[in-house]
Amino acid sequence: MSTTSVSTNTFTTARKKMTTLAYRQKKERGEIITMLTAYDYPTALAMDKAGIDSILVGDSLGMVVLGYENTLPVTMEEMLHHCRAVSRGAKSALLVGDMPFMSYQVSVEEATRNAGRFLQHGGMDAIKLEGGHERAGAIRSIVEAGIPVMGHLGLTPQSVNQLGGFRAQGKTAAAAKRLVEDALILEDAGCFSIVLESVPARLAELISKKISIPTIGIGAGAGCDGQVLVTHDLLGLFDRFTPKFVKQYADFHSAMQKAFSQYIEEVESKRFPAQEHTVEMKDVEWDALLHEINA
Ligand code: KIV
Repeated sequence: MSTTSVSTNTFTTARKKMTTLAYRQKKERGEIITMLTAYDYPTALAMDKAGIDSILVGDSLGMVVLGYENTLPVTMEEMLHHCRAVSRGAKSALLVGDMPFMSYQVSVEEATRNAGRFLQHGGMDAIKLEGGHERAGAIRSIVEAGIPVMGHLGLTPQSVNQLGGFRAQGKTAAAAKRLVEDALILEDAGCFSIVLESVPARLAELISKKISIPTIGIGAGAGCDGQVLVTHDLLGLFDRFTPKFVKQYADFHSAMQKAFSQYIEEVESKRFPAQEHTVEMKDVEWDALLHEINA
């Protein structure tokens, strides 16, 4: 049920806050879950207003916003800085903070402490981390601390060096079996949901049917319980490459470049600022000033 609130001059409908329980119930009702990444206040605000179920402050931040080659250099401080901005913009979506490389791999204690920082200092509702059976201990400990955990299987970008590049996973029977087993282990360890990235669609559908928690697919076909995309790919804001599984809904990079070129041209030709962008001063004040400085 939604509640109605009054904004400055229009009536807006404030959505009920999305929770991990509501996430699970959507799967049970066969309703698709929506998720996108965001890294800043205005994007989070627009997504929340559009009615997105959940927002991931992904460590893809490193590539699409900070310009790193991959996600490995991203730090806890960078993640928390962007999480806080997103949390100021989005009030209804379930907010998931992505644990960066080496913030949860060294020890269960460190993983739990860092996970807590996302809720305590980042304004997040839950965390996401990458990996299968090898992460079960950390996931159990984080969940025991009262922090909802989203798993991430398949193409796990923090293991790019181990995987030999950003390539699809689970394409052989043996690899697919390991992914099914890992999904069951993550469910058992207490994850409330699992991202499946770049795996065959029929495998993602099989996993989605085998586990009771929602799967969120990216490059994993239509058989998942929800979908996520990196927003900069969807908006055409990331110029380096666009993965095959992305649908580009806009070309913001070209639109931005066009706007910047127009601005430069108008400033150089003195068409901007025009009269309407200019602060006026009354003649009487101006004359008084001239009288003062010339006196
Ligand atoms: O960092 C990220 O944006 C992600 C998504 C690709 C799921 O992990």
